Amino acid sequence: MENKEKVKKLIDLRVEAKLGGGEKRIASQHAKGKYTARERIDMLLDEGSFEELDMFVTHRCHNFGMEKDKFLGDGVVTGHGTIDGRTVFVYAQDFTVFGGSLSETMALKICKVMDMAMKMGAPIIGINDSGGARIQEGVNALAGFAEIFERNILASGVVPQISAIYGPCAGGAVYSPALTDFILMTENTSYMFVTGPKVVKSVTGEDISTEDLGGASMHTKKSGVAQFKVETEEEGMMLIRKLLSYLPQNNLEEAPLFNTNDPIDRMEDSLNEIIPDNPNKPYDVKDVIHAIVDNEEFLEVHRFFAKNVVVGFARFNGQSTGIIANQPNFMGGVLDCDASRKAARFVRFCDAFNIPILTLVDVPGFLPGSSQEYQGIITHGAKLMFAYGEATVPKVTVTLRKSYGGAHCVMSSKQLRGDFNYAWPTAEIAVMGASGAIEVLEGRTIVKMENAEEKAQFIADKTAEYNTAFANPYNAASYAYIDDVIEPRNTRFRVIRAFQALQTKKLANPLKKHSNIPL
Ligand code: HXC
Repeated sequence: MENKEKVKKLIDLRVEAKLGGGEKRIASQHAKGKYTARERIDMLLDEGSFEELDMFVTHRCHNFGMEKDKFLGDGVVTGHGTIDGRTVFVYAQDFTVFGGSLSETMALKICKVMDMAMKMGAPIIGINDSGGARIQEGVNALAGFAEIFERNILASGVVPQISAIYGPCAGGAVYSPALTDFILMTENTSYMFVTGPKVVKSVTGEDISTEDLGGASMHTKKSGVAQFKVETEEEGMMLIRKLLSYLPQNNLEEAPLFNTNDPIDRMEDSLNEIIPDNPNKPYDVKDVIHAIVDNEEFLEVHRFFAKNVVVGFARFNGQSTGIIANQPNFMGGVLDCDASRKAARFVRFCDAFNIPILTLVDVPGFLPGSSQEYQGIITHGAKLMFAYGEATVPKVTVTLRKSYGGAHCVMSSKQLRGDFNYAWPTAEIAVMGASGAIEVLEGRTIVKMENAEEKAQFIADKTAEYNTAFANPYNAASYAYIDDVIEPRNTRFRVIRAFQALQTKKLANPLKKHSNIPL
């Protein structure tokens, strides 16, 4: 073969590889409202930055006549590129080749980019669209999955790992995304479950649709498996790009610093009046977040799940910050099992990746009741406590209103190594609210009172006495548990100054193999 022909052969092979499973299957993919693996990667990365690897890999299976059915690249497109100029490694399962099902060689390709991401200290993004283990390959496919899982585990806390689910993700395949930091799902075209509706029906008799069993709405609202739901794949790619802008490349680096035109000493007068006079009236804590962060920009994580706590990323003076805030607008901001594990996971992510944490507290306590106890509120609450107590990143806490009982201790209190703990004048920091406290302390006396008017007056007097003593920030401040009581409208400035002072913070936990967080 002449050299010219050799070059032509390469070009032809590249054209063939880029067609994946062929034009018919590409058309079928498009007809389902889905993009192909390469289209997806192009959408995700900076224009023209993608460098593909292993385009000529084919499977090695000889079962069921598979040796006659080979496609260049074998069901996954892998490589690296940039997002906002920063290197990322990426793989996208190609549904047009054997339904994106995972073969031994596909696993090899995915593991190669995962290993490179670790070596280079760069994020890894997986785009999932697959029928699971390639049935014809049997245990080799299973072994391939397990190779990927192990790498997900070792990469955890070293480089950010993001999973986009843009099609089926079933059976054991769900565990790779589940091991990563963030899962994003497209509405109506993606699903995740350990067993599909047919198996569910045959085993339990339950009739349930694919969407109800494992669709994006279910996983972002009920199970909490996925953090983000998007309507289109394009929207999903924009979201991944935005998310990465808040993250460092790896655990040894800091998140990128942005220039901001938002003045650091901007006063927000509305905050002086945001807390209603009636302590049982809610307000939206997201209004507080938007008012204090740079340019009102807040990327909420887990928006639809456990809405009684709000978590997400924002910037203060250009510095990426993780925010955890109780949400009085939903269930009074109480901490339940779901809210506790949602917040705990977010705190741990921030701590692993050197992202400072701001906590906004307005929490009446942990949710009482048998349902919560049966679900293990003790363990889930302990998770959040553990996550905060173990975190060594800069931690700034602002108590806006209620901070009661165990929930007070949990929410980044001074004793859990909160660096700066501020409170608004509207803060109430105590063991419990006035009505509960009076019930416990004066119950016997109240029961004996026969005159209703006298009883009401007694309760009112005791409540006033209790509120004067405890429903304020000054009692805690007198013990230095609160570093300062700040004017609400000045919160942005005080938080920025606190984080500035914490830039050189050095704190390490005792040496150990690893901790044993209550799981
Ligand atoms: C081999 C597969 C495949 C698989 C799909 N295909 N899944 N080939 N192994 N697991 C092939 C189909 O034969 C078909 O080939 C092409 O991919 C497209 O599939 P369709 O069925 O035509 O597509 P669609 O109707 O969209 O249905 C998609 C699907 C369905 C719902 C994913 O294919 C399906 O149910 N697949 C099997 C899912 C499954 O049970 N996987 C194993 C899970 S257990 P042609 O040539 O016709 O285009 C598992 C264990 C992992 O994964 C454990 C890890 C620890």
